[in-house]
Amino acid sequence: MVNSFSSEDVERLSTGIPGFDRLIEGGIPRGFFVAVVGEPGTGKSIFCQHFIAEGIRVGDKNIYVTTEESRESIIRQAKQFGWDFRKAIDEGKLVIIDALMGRHDEPWSLSSLDVEELVNKIIEAKKYLGYGRARLVVDSMSAFWLDKPAMARKYSYFVKRVLTRWDFTALLVSQYAVTTSLGFGFGIEHVADGIVRFRRIVVGGMLRRYVIVEKMRQTDHDLRMYEVKIIKGKGMVLEGPIRARKEDFALPRKVWLKMLESELMKELEVSGEEHES
Ligand SMILES: Nc1ncnc2c1ncn2[C@@H]1O[C@H](COP(=O)(O)OP(=O)(O)O)[C@@H](O)[C@H]1O
Ligand SMILES: [Mg+2]
Repeated sequence: MVNSFSSEDVERLSTGIPGFDRLIEGGIPRGFFVAVVGEPGTGKSIFCQHFIAEGIRVGDKNIYVTTEESRESIIRQAKQFGWDFRKAIDEGKLVIIDALMGRHDEPWSLSSLDVEELVNKIIEAKKYLGYGRARLVVDSMSAFWLDKPAMARKYSYFVKRVLTRWDFTALLVSQYAVTTSLGFGFGIEHVADGIVRFRRIVVGGMLRRYVIVEKMRQTDHDLRMYEVKIIKGKGMVLEGPIRARKEDFALPRKVWLKMLESELMKELEVSGEEHES
């Protein structure tokens, strides 16, 4: 007996990270707007670069908007993982819209962090790249409403509504302000078809990074949190899931971090014992 609708009917775009694709039945459904949230240094930009590198590889049109790093910084970072973004730009497969430098003398720059200017520039880039399936990264979206967080939801809705007609599958990055637990990402999260959350914690003097898929419409996604490694020459790699329950993540952050810490300490002790024996 076959269901009238099964998740196999959904066209999916690989993220370029095999370990991550496995969490979401092979990839992100075409046309989805996915929020990528997390604190600084958790791997959000590198995750997005994988997605773009994969797009270049399979012949999609690719647009990367950068607000926190310059275009040159993105190109240099990508190169460390073996991706030639410069070549893709020259071949008309990729446009990197630089919203950091605020230049006026260069076509693919934003002169200000204005949502309307952003959307117009993205559409212009899509027209330049041509007809067909497209990937969009906005890294980060939250930069556009830093000085007016109350507008986050309205702006997110506007961006999605306008860009939906242009055949984009999009990753919208959002900084997560930890200290205040004030999520600048909330705007995006309300309209997002999917939410990928990155986290970081220092355990036993070591920085560890994690990722969890909190939401992915039309997808029987994995509910576990995975450790993430960023490896020179390779990029992002997912390690095994951590042994904690989904419910734990719904707890207040402080409580949750304490539990995660003790969980990881236990693991460290166990592996320490194995080495000793
Ligand atoms: N070539 C590299 N080899 C290993 N780790 C790297 C390399 N380049 C960057 N990283 C790691 O990735 C981190 C930056 O990740 P990034 O995706 O920019 O974070 P975010 O966008 O969440 O702020 C760095 O702090 C570093 O730990
Ligand atoms: Mg970043």
